[in-house]
Amino acid sequence: MRVFNFKTELFTFIKNEKAKNKTIGLVPTMGALHEGHLSLVKKAMEENDVVVVSIFVNPTQFDNKDDLDKYPQNFSEDLKTLNTVSEAIIVFAPTKDDIYEGSIASRSYNFEGLEKVMEGEFRTGHFNGVATIVELLLRTVDPNRAYFGEKDFQQLQIIKKLVKNKKLPYQIIACPIEREPNGLARSSRNERLSKKTRQKAALIFKTLSSAKEKFGTKSAEYIKEWVTKVFDENELFKLEYFEITDVDTLTPMIKKQKNRKYRAFIAVYADGIRLIDNIALN
Ligand code: PAJ
Repeated sequence: MRVFNFKTELFTFIKNEKAKNKTIGLVPTMGALHEGHLSLVKKAMEENDVVVVSIFVNPTQFDNKDDLDKYPQNFSEDLKTLNTVSEAIIVFAPTKDDIYEGSIASRSYNFEGLEKVMEGEFRTGHFNGVATIVELLLRTVDPNRAYFGEKDFQQLQIIKKLVKNKKLPYQIIACPIEREPNGLARSSRNERLSKKTRQKAALIFKTLSSAKEKFGTKSAEYIKEWVTKVFDENELFKLEYFEITDVDTLTPMIKKQKNRKYRAFIAVYADGIRLIDNIALN
């Protein structure tokens, strides 16, 4: 497995591969790799000649220093995990100074409202940080395709908008949510939950699945009230938000429109750890 720590070296390597007509797939990650990440890596391996997995805990997307400090990091374990998929994977693990060229700060983007709701509302500056690092990674790796999980559906929509607005020549590929056997969406943060809470956190996906069932006959307002009640009655969890939105604009659904697609989004605190999930409703 080849590991690059400097973007100039990676850039030269990629240029050589492209000169040999090889296609490049990029999977951006913050490490602490699990089956969710690996599903993206496997898809990228199927669709490209060369796959670059970036591992970089991006400081500019954390609005909470404690969350950044506690973010799990185990680089040698990540390399072992990637090796189980393929020894041919290229790992890009830059330092902060290298990738940001010394100025570790977010750029300011306008995503026409996509960045203002849900994660954007509750995590100030989060999407400016995400877009800044993803734009830097895309321009450095210059891939044919880049892979993102629907687990972070709002992030995925924002990156699609970034590529469109900046006219970047990269195809953004969406990958479905990988779940633990009890339905909990896989996340690096799950490791920080107690065994009991991790089991009980099945409630999050169970509630989303019931919301999907109710969506056929009930209003968004009714479903929102019902979800709020479910979490009010459960002292292990604290609901931060539950929203039903249009998938393209991410604006809250007022009245169901024909030919529109909707999705439900949720953020919940468990053991003081913030968990997010979402589900397609139609
Ligand atoms: P990270 O949380 O490490 O996730 C990396 C990628 O894996 C994201 O595209 C995320 O949506 C996807 N992913 C995580 N859990 C998943 C699951 N259970 N099922 C499917 N896909 C899953 O997202 C980030 O890092 C960062 O914001 C990043 C884009 C790397 C920018 O720093």
